Amino acid sequence: MEVELLETERGRIASDLHDDLGPLLSVIKMNLHLLDTKDKNDLMILGKTSTHIDHIAKRLREISNNIMPYTLQKKGLVTAITEITELLAEGNGLSIKLDNSVTDLAITKEKEIHIFRLFQEVLNNAIKHANASEIKIHLYEEKKELNILIKDNGCGFDKEKVMDQGKGLGLQNILRRAGILKGKVYLETVPGSGTEYHFRIPL
Ligand SMILES: Nc1ncnc2c1ncn2[C@@H]1O[C@H](COP(=O)(O)OP(=O)(O)OP(=O)(O)O)[C@@H](O)[C@H]1O
Ligand SMILES: [Mg+2]
Repeated sequence: MEVELLETERGRIASDLHDDLGPLLSVIKMNLHLLDTKDKNDLMILGKTSTHIDHIAKRLREISNNIMPYTLQKKGLVTAITEITELLAEGNGLSIKLDNSVTDLAITKEKEIHIFRLFQEVLNNAIKHANASEIKIHLYEEKKELNILIKDNGCGFDKEKVMDQGKGLGLQNILRRAGILKGKVYLETVPGSGTEYHFRIPL
């Protein structure tokens, strides 16, 4: 329940930032363009201010997307997964391949958010820790279950050790969210070889 409240609140904050402040910034920028001055100094200040506004708008989009991906709220899980996969592939110079056969999922927003967050954490971990050159993702539906496979060819890790040490909130959250979804998690990882997750989430 606590997690659900938190996500609802995150969604509200992200929407407020995106939907309320974004248009306001556009209005400010439009008003700047309406100013009619020939003064060189004024023109320079206007130019700088306009650039600052562009930066603020860009940061605003990034921050609200971080709090709650806009695409997830407006277009659903599959589009959000596709988008974040492309985004991360661009910025990290490693190959991320997505093989997806799921088109529309009839699941609640809450479920979508849990799935997205655990997907995001697995992907982030692979990028942050694995030192992999390739990540393969497979999304498919089978027997009323959503299957998500995420496999990296990186360094792997000792999962017992990591769990025993109680470190790593990320991994704990992945398991907790899978539990909330009544899903199954198969995690195969060996130090030196890669890491593979298989989630089976009832629809
Ligand atoms: N794909 C991976 N490849 C190699 N090591 C991994 C991978 N995923 C996780 N690990 C190891 O497992 C540890 C625990 O991961 P976890 O996500 O729980 O914590 P974290 O990423 O270190 O911190 P946090 O997620 O809280 O920011 C990591 O510190 C890392 O050593
Ligand atoms: Mg992590």
